Amino acid sequence: MIALKDFSFRYASGKANALQNLNLTIDDGDFVGIIGNSGAGKTTFTYAINGIVPHHYRGDFYGAVTVNGLDTVDSKPEQLAVHVGSVFQDVDAQMVASIVEDEILFGLENFGIPHDQIEGRLSEALAQIGISDLRERELDSLSGGQKQKVAVAAILALRPAIIVLDEPTGELDPQSSDQIYSLLRELNRQGTTIVVVEQKIGLLCRYAKKLLLIDHGEAVLYGTVREVLTQSGRMEEIGIHVPRIVSLHKELTRRGLVSCAAPTSMEEAEKMAREAIG
Ligand SMILES: Nc1ncnc2c1ncn2[C@@H]1O[C@H](COP(=O)(O)OP(=O)(O)OP(=O)(O)O)[C@@H](O)[C@H]1O
Ligand SMILES: [Mg+2]
Repeated sequence: MIALKDFSFRYASGKANALQNLNLTIDDGDFVGIIGNSGAGKTTFTYAINGIVPHHYRGDFYGAVTVNGLDTVDSKPEQLAVHVGSVFQDVDAQMVASIVEDEILFGLENFGIPHDQIEGRLSEALAQIGISDLRERELDSLSGGQKQKVAVAAILALRPAIIVLDEPTGELDPQSSDQIYSLLRELNRQGTTIVVVEQKIGLLCRYAKKLLLIDHGEAVLYGTVREVLTQSGRMEEIGIHVPRIVSLHKELTRRGLVSCAAPTSMEEAEKMAREAIG
């Protein structure tokens, strides 16, 4: 479990708190999508979980963050890394090797994975992401989207209990984005906790269980996808575009044409349409 208690953080050079008085928990086996405007504090939130804040970026840290019982201030980033695998917003900054397979091997060796398991984990992670053919390529020769896939594969190979991803599909086409999210959903079904920052709210509505909306460092909305979508007015005030199907639901409800809850899947959208037509 991840627990934030009265947590605020101000970067050493920051004028205001990047995150402000957060009190929330993320349960084991949850799949939380984080949304919010640029500069809202989404990346800082991921840093609070993997210990980059306050170990790499220093500043004023208030309250407490615990990850599987480990206090992030008292734990070394290496200790936290055993529990939390991270895919960063800037994947280039994350890469340590020059060849794809070495990038994945680096993590496996660093984590002390037994030698007889390494090849299996390496080839499985590449296959899961669908990049087995890139295994011997130079990282420098890959596209942005291909690098994102390598970064995800490198984390999958480590099989952490919690995976935190910061805009992992920023450079991916819709098909590859769905492929990554399908895989995350599968891992989540097997018990992995997923925390993912994502601009494409439609993707999150299809795959995440919960949404967390951060605005100006505050957790404004946090609940199941449906609970949060029900607050579409609040979201629009903040400048978050809700999926069109949700705006349509709001309008149909206003006109008294439907009484169902906001749809979060194609099937529910179809039901809504049927109800509206009568
Ligand atoms: N290293 C830093 N030093 C000082 N201030 C920082 C630093 N990194 C981020 N900030 C500030 O903290 C706030 C939150 O930034 P953060 O990167 O977490 O936002 P974000 O929601 O991830 O934005 P984006 O969608 O653009 O990635 C912003 O005001 C930002 O300027
Ligand atoms: Mg960010």
